[in-house]
Amino acid sequence: MSDWVRVCRLDEMEVEDVLSIEHGGKLIAVYRLEDGVYATDGHCTHEVQDLSDGFVIDNIIECPLHGGQFDIVTGKALTPPVCVDLATYEVKVEDGEIFVGI
Ligand code: FES
Repeated sequence: MSDWVRVCRLDEMEVEDVLSIEHGGKLIAVYRLEDGVYATDGHCTHEVQDLSDGFVIDNIIECPLHGGQFDIVTGKALTPPVCVDLATYEVKVEDGEIFVGI
């Protein structure tokens, strides 16, 4: 069963925004896309780099350190040097508030 962690109000994020939260020693990246809100592990799987410092292009997050790209929706590693997928997390929006299931 998920532990739902509040992130922020939905209207505090613009489309293609990404931010990170810490919960239980874990960094989670939260993204707002055209079709909803998504969450993945917050650190790149190549090296320890906070992905919320990266760039969102459509449904892709590009790591700022070496340019590796991941699919935000599936967590799939798309371009070298990343080859290990990101874990993804459930997201819900209730009463205009974003929650991540961890
Ligand atoms: S740390 Fe992310 S691509 Fe290298």
